[in-house]
Amino acid sequence: MNHLLSADNKGTPLFILNKSKYYDWLSSQNKQNQAWLANTHYKGEGLCLLPNTHGELSLALFVIEDAKHFFACGELIKQLPPGQYLLQAEREHQQAICFSWLVGAYKFDRYVTKSKKAHSLPCLAVNDQMLVDSAIKYAEATALVRDLVNTPAADMMPVNLGDCAQNLADRYQGKVNQIIGEELLERNYPTIHAVGRASAHAPRLIDLTWGDTSHPQVTLVGKGVCFDSGGLDLKPAAGMRNMKKDMGGSAHVLGLAQLIMSHNLPINLRVLIPAVENAVSSNALRPGDVITTRAGITVEIHNTDAEGRLVLCDALTEADADKPDLIIDFATLTGAMRVALGTELPGFFSTCDDIATGITHAGSKINDPVWRMPLYSDYRDLLKSSIADMTNCATVPFGGAITAALYLQEFVDKDTNWLHFDVMAYNIRSLSGRPIGGEAFGIRAVFDYLQAKYK
Ligand code: BES
Ligand code: ZN
Ligand code: ZN
Repeated sequence: MNHLLSADNKGTPLFILNKSKYYDWLSSQNKQNQAWLANTHYKGEGLCLLPNTHGELSLALFVIEDAKHFFACGELIKQLPPGQYLLQAEREHQQAICFSWLVGAYKFDRYVTKSKKAHSLPCLAVNDQMLVDSAIKYAEATALVRDLVNTPAADMMPVNLGDCAQNLADRYQGKVNQIIGEELLERNYPTIHAVGRASAHAPRLIDLTWGDTSHPQVTLVGKGVCFDSGGLDLKPAAGMRNMKKDMGGSAHVLGLAQLIMSHNLPINLRVLIPAVENAVSSNALRPGDVITTRAGITVEIHNTDAEGRLVLCDALTEADADKPDLIIDFATLTGAMRVALGTELPGFFSTCDDIATGITHAGSKINDPVWRMPLYSDYRDLLKSSIADMTNCATVPFGGAITAALYLQEFVDKDTNWLHFDVMAYNIRSLSGRPIGGEAFGIRAVFDYLQAKYK
């Protein structure tokens, strides 16, 4: 991304300012620029390119409601002609401008063969190396999440998620251990095996570790269901169509891990990804089967489509065994959460009020909003089974995101600081800097919180 954002002090001036500052700015301009803006009926909003007397581009102006919004300049890189621009903006706006400039360049074109030839994008110069480096790290993490989610399931199976974790570990001197196929049974991860066993692509538990073991431990857990057909309780076509994104939780924790490692946070990091395909075959997990989980809790399968919580529960048991300072899981866990909050606001559950408040505040400052949901324990009864310790899902459709979270909570010690994010991982409409397709939700909010906490 260095060719799109560089620490330099040359280029065509690009003024980015808030609407409220436009008339002040206008009065500081020369007669020619003022005349051009008047003659082109510029209304003090949006992009305007201004020429010099030779007809060459001399200055670009972009006026917006709130330049501090982290997606405000998300379309700019595609609108400006090629060349290098020198940013002229208030200091407190620059971080958001640089981030949105870069995420706006994102395009998933791995499978496009025609007219792929990249038209050259402009470069933004900002004379601040730290700012440039930081924006690149945030934009790279976002692009990683998007790429992983956008890649079709055929090319994003458990083996591919494992490769991605290994690449990240290689880049930042971490380690990856993987437990694959039958070994999951031998090492006692029965739920991950049970959900993944029907697929030709062996299930696996990916375990990435990084950092100094004397630092506080933070463990991230990500749902890595590479394709969710629903299993035997098969999803209808419309519900299945986009289920390549069901490894979105794992994409989120890999993106968040990249942020943590690239910033070298003083954290002892562990990332656990139960990676499976929820497929249909004669050996598939059945409704009515009972699995004894790693924690020893027996679970009666009410619906094989509630597979995310199954693969997560053994991973959470493993995460909790270290007694980390904090466990955070991300999962595309329930349709119910999307009914509750829509697709663009991730809901999260937390056993710790301080952390929940801290992350909510961090997110609202940097336009990465998250919304806390209740671990309403009275609904725990909805997971009662007549033949086992519990069922994997409720029989009533109400409060589905809460009952899913309550299921997961059974596998985390009551004294553990635990956060569970139920995310969409996908934009169903295009917004500034956010094209339709895979999306990272909440990872910048969590990262900013962690960065402030573990200084
Ligand atoms: N991967 C889905 C949840 C999902 C669906 C997330 C659509 C985002 C968008 C999950 O595995 C699932 O199928 N959940 C079921 C649970 C039900 C069977 C209790 C659901 O939400 O319908
Ligand atoms: Zn499912
Ligand atoms: Zn799923």
